[in-house]
Amino acid sequence: MEEEQEYFLLGDETIKTKPKIKTNKRRIKIITIFSILFFIGFYSIYKFFINYNEVELIFIQGKSRKDKYGVELNKHILDGIYCIKYDNKESNLEDWKLYTPPCPYLRPVHYPDSIINPVCEESSLQFINFDDNITEIPYSIHLDNISNRLKKWDQWERKNKEGTVYYSDLKVSELVKDEYYPFDYGYKGEDTSNIGDVEYYNNVINSRMDEVPDPRRRRLFSFILFNSEYELLDLYLAEYYEIVDYFFIYEANTTFNGNPKPLYFTRALLETDRYDKFKDKLIPYPVKIILDEDNGRGKAFPREHLARRTVISEGLKAVHARHGDLFFHGDLDEFIKPHVLARMKKCGGWEHLQAGIGGGPKSFKDESVETYFINKDMNVTNYQNGEYNMNYDRHKSIGFESQYFTYSFNMIEKSDIRTNFHPNLAIFDARRSLGQVSERKNLKEKRREYSDPLLDPNFDPYQGYMYTDNTNDLHKGKGYLGEFLRFETSTNILKLKEQDKPVIWESAWHLSSFLPSINHIYNKATSYSHFYEFKVKEEAELKKDIIDRIKSYKYLYGDEVKYKNSTIIVPESYKQGYPYNFDFKYWDEIFKKKDTSEEVQNYLQILLHEIPSQVWKNPICYSYMLDRDFGIKKKLWWQIIPKSLWKVIRFETLEPSVFDELMPNIFPDSFKKEMLEVISKEKYDILLNIDGHIYNITVNEPMKLNEAIEIENN
Ligand SMILES: *[C@@H]1O[C@H](CO)[C@@H](O)[C@H](O)[C@H]1NC(C)=O
Ligand SMILES: *[C@@H]1O[C@H](CO)[C@@H](O)[C@H](O)[C@H]1NC(C)=O
Ligand SMILES: *[C@@H]1O[C@H](CO)[C@@H](O)[C@H](O)[C@H]1NC(C)=O
Ligand SMILES: *[C@@H]1O[C@H](CO)[C@@H](O)[C@H](O)[C@H]1NC(C)=O
Ligand SMILES: *[C@@H]1O[C@H](CO)[C@@H](O)[C@H](O)[C@H]1NC(C)=O
Ligand SMILES: *[C@@H]1O[C@H](CO)[C@@H](O)[C@H](O)[C@H]1NC(C)=O
Repeated sequence: MEEEQEYFLLGDETIKTKPKIKTNKRRIKIITIFSILFFIGFYSIYKFFINYNEVELIFIQGKSRKDKYGVELNKHILDGIYCIKYDNKESNLEDWKLYTPPCPYLRPVHYPDSIINPVCEESSLQFINFDDNITEIPYSIHLDNISNRLKKWDQWERKNKEGTVYYSDLKVSELVKDEYYPFDYGYKGEDTSNIGDVEYYNNVINSRMDEVPDPRRRRLFSFILFNSEYELLDLYLAEYYEIVDYFFIYEANTTFNGNPKPLYFTRALLETDRYDKFKDKLIPYPVKIILDEDNGRGKAFPREHLARRTVISEGLKAVHARHGDLFFHGDLDEFIKPHVLARMKKCGGWEHLQAGIGGGPKSFKDESVETYFINKDMNVTNYQNGEYNMNYDRHKSIGFESQYFTYSFNMIEKSDIRTNFHPNLAIFDARRSLGQVSERKNLKEKRREYSDPLLDPNFDPYQGYMYTDNTNDLHKGKGYLGEFLRFETSTNILKLKEQDKPVIWESAWHLSSFLPSINHIYNKATSYSHFYEFKVKEEAELKKDIIDRIKSYKYLYGDEVKYKNSTIIVPESYKQGYPYNFDFKYWDEIFKKKDTSEEVQNYLQILLHEIPSQVWKNPICYSYMLDRDFGIKKKLWWQIIPKSLWKVIRFETLEPSVFDELMPNIFPDSFKKEMLEVISKEKYDILLNIDGHIYNITVNEPMKLNEAIEIENN
């Protein structure tokens, strides 16, 4: 999950030490195969136990699980995959030595209508204003509802039949202006709002790739890489469940350094109820890493690149992406602010900055339409790395300007300048996927004997987003290099400026090493691509080194870069949350007047120092993100509350002294009072499993600790 960018940016001259990677030299040898079939957990999984000489692998397999639209969510586990067991011995997830329970209050964050359903035509989206340096006031784009944009495109097209407009020569500073820059969604159909979701999306996922769905109902997908960070994944899913349509989650049965690891996510999904609240949007993608290539900096980075490439190409296929859908890729610790993401999904008016003038696929039913995957006479050339030389977009993706925090929201890389521009978001283009030439490029097409490629089962309608050679990281194949979606935005602000890249201002958090305990941080340090940067290898020594780094605000890897203090701004009111205003007129005024009044400054400070909803809504669960002494000097909630009560504990029923011990001390009393009021009113149906006995408890009233203990004792 670590930063590739450093590699591109720093160049080889900064890498002084040769990579040393501990390899697992133990030879794995099969002795016997027991074909015993087990059914466990809430869903049936078959586990064939296989005896290896030293490491015992188990077989993980899922059954078909289709969602209401017909998407097969278990597509990638139907055939099954092997992995090692938790701690290398047969055990339940809860017995894993690094297991942490989910927050007992974990559920999708429900956002107010103003966030989830903004009035687009009055709203805005902010972009970095490089000319003013980035601490200054951003550009604001006037957003609009997509119905309006469709009409405007129609009018523009009628007037500009011959016109071929490309934005490549216009600067970002021009394209953000509040005037109409045409963008073609490629949609010619009716407003579909009278069709129910099930019918509508069922049709979409079964539609031909050369048909364009209603952009007002475009979907949004998240493609992420997972190692074992359950807490971050909980947070991620809770933050985005209401906004994102599918989460496609990559996890390998070895780390990028090549050490075998359990399939933590896939198993938790199959065997526990941890993800039940999110399950209908979760698609596991467990893989075996085949790449074994040293790029001069170890074997981990090439594997990371390939992981990024395949999580995108396989993700698009798994969710049945169609023209105009949005997808983003980043690491699990890269969080786009939900209010930004919601505006981008729902509202139009920003798309031309990523996809230029746009345009949809042409129908293969029209006989003049060809694909360069079949008709090589179309003379579509490839760049050196094999990517097709076609102009479908202005930039491969749009980046999000992140605050780069480490260990907790208290430590920031640089407080005066942003240093990270991930994750990245792009619009899925069916023309690229199908290998059609861009509508607005006057390429002479030679007619040939025609047949509709979409009727050919061997024609893959996603091949434009795939790469033909994924056995290495040498770019010897042809097609789309998904990892470049991420590399579109450098971490070098001056380079971004020079390249005139559109970057969405102050729009994300980077939660680097936000892990609950020192053991978790140690585990991360030994699994990821930067591992060799540690000079020491012994566990105790490495842990001490890590604690010293945390105490002295130093980054986990590499150079002992010192981080800065950052002050968290929490919402004043638990019920209201942060006061947002993204009204276009408001921002336009600020921009035009270079308004630096106190009121504006205060609002900008909130946007700089706000934290995710799930965190401030559940400060006891995420205490270590708010105060780094938690998990190191101070105890976490699950280190105090007994395991049998993890699922039922109601924090509002705790003794005040225990409550205060667990609650980070950064909230005003009024906030705490409101919080207790709100959480004690919520109702819960809880299935409590104690030693295999299931208790069904409907908690209308908060359950007192002693009542829970009574149930446990009975
Ligand atoms: C990873 O999965 C593959 C495919 O099931 C299997 O052959 C391989 O042994 C597994 N490796 C480990 C370390 O679990
Ligand atoms: C932006 O920052 C750079 C580097 O610190 C500086 O050289 C430049 O003058 C600044 N530009 C503006 C417009 O303030
Ligand atoms: C779009 O905005 C117009 C005003 O410009 C409004 O009349 C219309 O109802 C809006 N449509 C939707 C679907 O929000
Ligand atoms: C493609 O290139 C070949 C060789 O240069 C040429 O003969 C042919 O006419 C070109 N086809 C098109 C469609 O431009
Ligand atoms: C951050 O703030 C704390 C508390 O005020 C202080 O002890 C520490 O030295 C500061 N660290 C840095 C890197 O500024
Ligand atoms: C638990 O009890 C509630 C209330 O009696 C009931 O509605 C619910 O169906 C029960 N759940 C299970 C899984 O038995």
